[in-house]
Amino acid sequence: MSEKNHRVSRRQFLNYTLTGVGGFMAAGMLMPMVRFAIDPVLKAGADQEMVYVCEESELTTEPERFDFKIDQVDAWYESEEPRSAWIFKSENGDVIALSPVCKHLGCTVNWASDEANPNRFFCPCHYGLYEKNGDNVPNTPPLAPLDVYEHKVEDGKVYLGSAKPKGEA
Ligand code: FES
Repeated sequence: MSEKNHRVSRRQFLNYTLTGVGGFMAAGMLMPMVRFAIDPVLKAGADQEMVYVCEESELTTEPERFDFKIDQVDAWYESEEPRSAWIFKSENGDVIALSPVCKHLGCTVNWASDEANPNRFFCPCHYGLYEKNGDNVPNTPPLAPLDVYEHKVEDGKVYLGSAKPKGEA
């Protein structure tokens, strides 16, 4: 009885070993394929490459809307997507680029379009208001400041990257 048990146990050992080695080899072959398949999805959330938007000399202390396009890769589909930014110079000369997407429900905000608030961004959808620096005005629907574009200025040219929550850009 003990000899029979011993033989079965040896067979089981071989089965486990072969299954283990086979599984290991299969994983070695499949992992690169899985990685290749999901790589575009992983890259979709990556930071946006900086793109040229305007000349620094065009900017004043009054926010102005600039439209531009970015290359966007969603999984396996690559496209050019339109973007906009409200760009201006602060009193100390810094370039500030704000996203026009309202933080309430995503409508587009405009600068000084509400007669009662001439120096604020206004969202017409639910009367949302933002200060010039993008901060949301308390007691209006938006609960967060406008997103801020990452930017760089090189040779007098303004480039924008990803729009991020204020303080993270
Ligand atoms: S979407 Fe802008 S206030 Fe509601």
